[in-house]
Amino acid sequence: MQSSLKFRLALGSLGLSLGLMAQAQAPAPVAAMGKGLFEQPGTNSCMYCHGIDGKGGKIAAAVKLAQPKTWRSFKILGGEAEFNKNKAEFMKRFQQSVEHVLINGAIVHNARFKQPWYDLSKGGGPFNAQMLGMTGAPSSAWLKRMAARGVTREIAATSLWLHMQSFDTQKVFK
Ligand code: HEC
Repeated sequence: MQSSLKFRLALGSLGLSLGLMAQAQAPAPVAAMGKGLFEQPGTNSCMYCHGIDGKGGKIAAAVKLAQPKTWRSFKILGGEAEFNKNKAEFMKRFQQSVEHVLINGAIVHNARFKQPWYDLSKGGGPFNAQMLGMTGAPSSAWLKRMAARGVTREIAATSLWLHMQSFDTQKVFK
């Protein structure tokens, strides 16, 4: 075999194994990770505004996380009627919208989240700018630290989505 070909094959398999390593590195979203992020100490963590159990936080305008039917995304998507009509489709959209608010915060979400099935005006107006989601300082710092372990904003948002299901008293996630 020509040595340059051997070299190229070796490079190829090195690239492949590095690629596989990078893939193996990204952890799956889990509720425990969401809990860790949610409960970061400090001003403007999730827990600070919403309370450790999703209620009784420092910001009066923050929704009660134990009542997902009161969340603005739930209303925007058509509320109870749409939820009962096609729960599977509703929950897919609900997750997409909620995770987008979590990742971007209210202001960017209001401006950028566009879907044919999403009409902000149906939720009684845009999101309150106080909803910082993961852009709050304690969450940003957590994300920065976790990036080294392959945790992306998307993985973190889905982990939060899973963790918040433990607050649910309205059987939305059942
Ligand atoms: C500075 C205060 C603040 C911080 C920090 C904050 N929130 Fe909120 N959150 C709010 C407020 C206020 C609302 C209500 C927004 C609205 O409906 O207009 C809200 C709404 C929500 C909603 C409903 C979203 C929807 O799609 O209807 C969820 C879920 C939520 N927050 C989870 C979180 C999580 C998880 C974090 C941490 C990553 C977080 N929040 C950080 C204040 C905050």
